Amino acid sequence: MKKFYITTPIYYANDKPHLGHSYTTIAADVLARYCRLKNKDVFFLTGTDEHGSKIEEAAKQNNVTCQKWVNNKVEDFKLLWKRLNISNNDFIRTTEERHIKKVKDVFKKLLEKGDIFKGKYTGWYCVACESYYTDTQLVGGKCPDCARDVERLEEESYFFKLSKFQNALLEHYGKNPDFMLPSWRASEMVNFVKSGLKDLSVSRKNVKWGITVPGDETHTVYVWFDALINYISAAEGKDIWPCDIHFVGKEIFKFHTVIWPAMLLALDIPLPKTVFAHGWWTVNGEKMSKSKGNFVDPHKFIDKYGCDAYRYFVLRQIPFGQDGDFSEKSFQDRYNSDLANNLGNLISRTFSMVEKYSLQNVAPKASSEFLIGKSVNNFDEKFTKSMEKIELTASLELIWEIIDEANRTIDSEKPWVLFKSDKERLKAVFENLLSAVEIISKALAPFMPETAEKIKKIIATQKVSAPLFPRIAQE
Ligand code: MSP
Repeated sequence: MKKFYITTPIYYANDKPHLGHSYTTIAADVLARYCRLKNKDVFFLTGTDEHGSKIEEAAKQNNVTCQKWVNNKVEDFKLLWKRLNISNNDFIRTTEERHIKKVKDVFKKLLEKGDIFKGKYTGWYCVACESYYTDTQLVGGKCPDCARDVERLEEESYFFKLSKFQNALLEHYGKNPDFMLPSWRASEMVNFVKSGLKDLSVSRKNVKWGITVPGDETHTVYVWFDALINYISAAEGKDIWPCDIHFVGKEIFKFHTVIWPAMLLALDIPLPKTVFAHGWWTVNGEKMSKSKGNFVDPHKFIDKYGCDAYRYFVLRQIPFGQDGDFSEKSFQDRYNSDLANNLGNLISRTFSMVEKYSLQNVAPKASSEFLIGKSVNNFDEKFTKSMEKIELTASLELIWEIIDEANRTIDSEKPWVLFKSDKERLKAVFENLLSAVEIISKALAPFMPETAEKIKKIIATQKVSAPLFPRIAQE
């Protein structure tokens, strides 16, 4: 049976991973874990993009070979994914033989079909962005994306006949409303394609660190053309294609919704079902950048607050899909209010009272109109719908509705009073609370796997040994 195939972008191995990389990977991991819990056979891929001038530059500056440089960086990515509990099934590197072979095969096939041809390219090239720009795209004569200087380049190049696929792409978008999600991001791509597609230069003479064009050693394959193919090189020999969902950041949505599907159309390979673009993080209101040195290092936050707190924060802080801001203050606020006070407190209060009032034999039971019945009502249905729409933040909000309501129930029902006055009602309150805790731990599992395990253990042993999220003193 075909597996459910989920991917992250493959990240440039030119530098260490930061908040942005971890964000996409965590989101993809949450969906992968959720689908596995729904008994789907999941194949979850991540990896690294290791060719091109960015890598060449980084290696040169550090006086090491490109291969050594990327080998080293790859370990940084792998270590972070391990610490973030990322459950990928495979890790693809574009310097691997399986990938190089696939890229060469694709290039050759498209050359033979005439969808790749040799021509001449003139344009403004930005080394940092590995992109060419036309005169009208430049902003004040500089790169429109990073504002750096650009160089005028004219060179012989191989071109991919992107223009040929304009109508086929528009037709595909029209027929497949889930191809681009969130749907409000689609119109920009549709308009871009409608405005007319130009053939794409897919080889470089000036870049040595890359896969050579089959039959022409003087060119290497353009790094984006090379990178996109990773999704099918990793699928080779496995029953996973077409991909179910590519997670990407909004800045690379176009590569994944215009160039990539056109390449697949040329190859007669079915298109991925969905490309989902999330928004961008700023840090303390500013764009993350090398020059500002304000990259958020996930390790620092994992060390200080734990892996699950980090996973929770990034998905809870901004509605998944939108842009938002990261600051340690907002991290601490959420940690203390949502994790220490709401979730942590609920678990420790509930089980310390189970012990205190000898309620060990009470079995979880949700009553629909009683106590916490409201948020629990139809929870599965609401949660499933929201997860299927990849509304990750909204899904967390649904879980927290139960947590809040359970805490409110404790406050209003006052078990310490019921213990003396109404044992029947005390039992009913705890049937509901235990049922809430069960639902919470199940639903949390894809988002906070370690915490969900801890809660399961607490349910089984009916004992809380230490607070799940000790309150932190705010600076
Ligand atoms: N190598 C290409 C992708 C090729 S996929 C076939 C690339 N790599 S990257 O290292 O620059 O990573 C880009 C991804 O990192 C974005 O798509 C996004 O997932 C993530 N982010 C990088 N900075 C980000 C923010 N400031 N905010 C959120 N995510 C961003 O592009």
